[in-house]
Amino acid sequence: MLSMRGVYKAFGDTLVLRGIDLDVQRHQVVVLIGASGSGKSTLLRTVNLLEPIDDGQIFLTGQDISDPRVDADRTRARIGVVFQQFNLFPHLTVLDNVTLANRKVHGMPKEEAESIAVELLGRIGLSDKLKAYPDRLSGGQQQRVAIVRAIASNPELLLLDEITSALDPQLVGEVLDLVTELKATGSTMVMATHEMSFARRAADLVVFLKSGVLVEQGPPEQVFDRPLHPETREFLARVHDVG
Ligand SMILES: Nc1ncnc2c1ncn2[C@@H]1O[C@H](COP(=O)(O)OP(=O)(O)OP(=O)(O)O)[C@@H](O)[C@H]1O
Ligand SMILES: [Mg+2]
Repeated sequence: MLSMRGVYKAFGDTLVLRGIDLDVQRHQVVVLIGASGSGKSTLLRTVNLLEPIDDGQIFLTGQDISDPRVDADRTRARIGVVFQQFNLFPHLTVLDNVTLANRKVHGMPKEEAESIAVELLGRIGLSDKLKAYPDRLSGGQQQRVAIVRAIASNPELLLLDEITSALDPQLVGEVLDLVTELKATGSTMVMATHEMSFARRAADLVVFLKSGVLVEQGPPEQVFDRPLHPETREFLARVHDVG
């Protein structure tokens, strides 16, 4: 589904991604872990073409989306993205937030876009909030709407960047439960998270980044319980909640 080959990214003199090679298979959940500043968000942003890369290639279903001749908007329409916070348009109702991309980007008729949105919002228990504005929802509800909005147009790939780190602890669970449901329905996801116990449960592949280097990757049991690299061990020793 996604292949990164020798991806380099610098901001000025600072090299932030140093030769990233990563393969994400269809239906896989890949979790990026690493200290603050290790490059997790930057990696996700390069995939969504929010950051141009300096070297290397990024392939989405075999197409080199890092080729500047490829239409970036068309690529972005194939990828759903949810960030840490401020995901929803505050001036639009929940229903309009969820239907927007399907109507404006994909040219879907209003009725069809709304029926998809109503179905998805029902699934996350928010049928009574269709006409509400985001500021009337809890943080957890807002993030679940943001996730539903990202999947409403049936993207091939979902990028989730620290989607629970702005939430009160009691709201984290409901958002992670929704991610677990998406995994069960076969969504392909790449997510950056500090929730190690969730990473252990949900990830098919855990990727450890340090200073922009992909130090180690493998199934959760390997990376968490039998890390190959001293740097991974060091990082995990400093993280309390390793599941
Ligand atoms: N737009 C930018 N301009 C300059 N430097 C940047 C920019 N965005 C990120 N950086 C730098 O790139 C490095 C990686 O940042 P990034 O946000 O990718 O880390 P992260 O792993 O997501 O961290 P966190 O866990 O805190 O979210 C950091 O040193 C950061 O300061
Ligand atoms: Mg980040």
